Amino acid sequence: MMFSEFLDFIQSGQGQPGAQAPVGDPSEIIGTALPRIDGPLKTTGSAKYASDYNFKNMVYAVPVCAKVAGGTIRSLDASAAKKMPGVVLVLHHGNVPPIYRNGSGGRNSEGRPPLTDEVISYWGQYVAVVYAETYQQALAGADAVKVSYNADKFDVSPKLDDAMPAIGAEGGPRVLSHRGDADAAFASAPVKVDVVYRTPVETHNPMEMHATVAVWDGKRFTLYESSQGVVNHLTVMAQVLGVPKENIDVISHFIGSGFGGKLFPWPHSALAAVGARQLNRPVKLTVDRSMMFSNVGHRPRTEQRIRLGATPDGKLLALAQDYRNHTSLHDDIRENCGEATPFLYSTANLQVSSALVRRNVGTPTPMRGPGAVPGLFALESGMDELAIALKMDPVALRLGLDTLTDESNGKPFSSRHLKECLQVGSEKFGWAKRTPEVGSMKKGDLVLGWGVACASWGAGRGPSQASLSLQQDGRVRVSSATQDIGTGTYTIVAQVVSDKTGIPVKRIDVKLGNSEFVPGPMSGGSTATATVVPSIADAANAAIKTMLQIASSSKSSLFAGKKATDLAFTDGRVHLKDKPSSSGVPFGQILKAANMASADGEGKSGGLGSDTKAHDYSTHSFGAQFVEVEWDPGIARLRVSRVVSVIDGGRIINPKTATNQVAGAVVMGVGMGLFEETIYDPRNGHAINDNFADYIVPTSADSPKVDVHFLDIPDPQMGEYGARGIGEIGLAGVAPAITAAVYHATGVRVRELPVRIEDLLTAKVAV
Ligand code: MOS
Repeated sequence: MMFSEFLDFIQSGQGQPGAQAPVGDPSEIIGTALPRIDGPLKTTGSAKYASDYNFKNMVYAVPVCAKVAGGTIRSLDASAAKKMPGVVLVLHHGNVPPIYRNGSGGRNSEGRPPLTDEVISYWGQYVAVVYAETYQQALAGADAVKVSYNADKFDVSPKLDDAMPAIGAEGGPRVLSHRGDADAAFASAPVKVDVVYRTPVETHNPMEMHATVAVWDGKRFTLYESSQGVVNHLTVMAQVLGVPKENIDVISHFIGSGFGGKLFPWPHSALAAVGARQLNRPVKLTVDRSMMFSNVGHRPRTEQRIRLGATPDGKLLALAQDYRNHTSLHDDIRENCGEATPFLYSTANLQVSSALVRRNVGTPTPMRGPGAVPGLFALESGMDELAIALKMDPVALRLGLDTLTDESNGKPFSSRHLKECLQVGSEKFGWAKRTPEVGSMKKGDLVLGWGVACASWGAGRGPSQASLSLQQDGRVRVSSATQDIGTGTYTIVAQVVSDKTGIPVKRIDVKLGNSEFVPGPMSGGSTATATVVPSIADAANAAIKTMLQIASSSKSSLFAGKKATDLAFTDGRVHLKDKPSSSGVPFGQILKAANMASADGEGKSGGLGSDTKAHDYSTHSFGAQFVEVEWDPGIARLRVSRVVSVIDGGRIINPKTATNQVAGAVVMGVGMGLFEETIYDPRNGHAINDNFADYIVPTSADSPKVDVHFLDIPDPQMGEYGARGIGEIGLAGVAPAITAAVYHATGVRVRELPVRIEDLLTAKVAV
């Protein structure tokens, strides 16, 4: 699935056209760096994550994972396991109750239901599940299941240069974007770059691993999940488990992040649920770190040929990106590497084509900035190489290619300030002091390298609903079936309610992460904020309207006899419109006098897709990443020392949580640039570095000083607050800015991530 399809998916649905109020005046609470309202729950350990739920009579489930990457199960003998202490059930292909294929409007991760047949298509695939009284007994039981395989040939090769059919031929690359004649314009261009870039498999490694605690009460499931989309999870699981939607509740109150890996349900969820139903006991299934590397998705490997043709003064005559990515045997997952390519720079001749190569790996899934992030590594590296070929400054080259029209479809951008990102970033970074010659900038014994790259990520808004109650106790309760994956959604929802009602945040209770609430958005594609905020605002307005009606119609009210339209609601008080709010009555007192528990409002907002005015625009976020590396040639040490990240992400509702997102993404970009790669053992297809000792992620010591700056320009197409998402854009452009900086320091152009010290040992730079 590509981001564009994902956007269509999240923007589809039954939403009605959204309210298109003009962008609101800045208020105190919007734009305030409010600390997370759920912070104390997390720091005191009282926030409950999926695997923190425990129930009486609960059993533990541990999957048995295939030890071959291709073939079939020859025999599976569970008899010894069944006799192990505490083991109450072993499910496998021969006895698993029905787990259905998903045909709902929701999205699943793997198309093939778990244990559905005896075919093995990747190492680690679940072949059985052992349920036991304790986790240790389930682990021991899983060890005792004897499985033999008819091992078949398999392919986990990282080289994706398999002979491919021609573009247009069956099974060949698909042209995703096209204008002019990129081949001809490239052939005749005076200055050319024609290079191939490669990005590795990266594994999502949120601190909180996947887990399901499934409770069956004889009729209804409650699934405690670590999910980026409780509504989608419900929709899919109703089909997979064959029960009506009203008989499932999905709960994800707290999530230790997901990065895309928790967008859609994975097989372990169904395996926990069918076990719970069969045993009539709660089941806890936790996915361990090793399983995270094979069973719950990854960013697929990419190989991207970039061709850039330019005039000597830096006009882009041709831009072609022909890429392929690997996918699993059963699912066609297209990493949308051309997500930003068609519109980032002005050029008359462009082509983006994409092909899939099958490998014996688990099904890939979106990972933070899917497509765009590896795609921009290639495109922005190519731009850096072009700037060098042209002897132009890489910032100046990009500034000259800026455009305010999306040339892929002729639409104006709703709000594009890429130029300002580059300008502000240059200033904050001190770019003017850069000397372009390789190895020319020194700091003591260190060689400094300075690199830059642009960032882009789609902006979307889907349909959403919310409920809000002004309560007699003076508190506000607001709910929506979206979830906070750690990004700050609880907090920004409270800010919007506070902004609309004037009630302080400490009196606002935000309820998220339960599919029983009215449907809210997935936390994906950096769209949750833009999607949920208008429905929250709408619910607040509706509750206030209810409140004023109660105030005017209740006989015991101070305002009895007044029309609701004569009344206003300010700072939590009802008052006459022509009198100051201090003369008014706190809403709790009015409810008390009316003998009412609460004044309620339902809110609803529509997606961009349902809004024809917004459809006339191309909506994206932009950014610029400036990176400094320090290269110590004496001991071959490379470190990213400093990053300036300037983001054009629309209006920023909470600068603290937003800065957290971007700074965290930049650190993730250091991981992508220097460390991360999931390596499959060519002998058996096992992800051999399936642990935190061998799969390297940046530590604090690896983290640079990160200066995050938001342009904070509201996007007029993104509803009242003009907020776009900022969850993913911060990762885009970091890796190519790092490799550009590495080139500047060392003269070595690394075209395959991650940068390895071995790559740099040929550096010609001496101090
Ligand atoms: Mo993001 S990859 O849509 O969680």
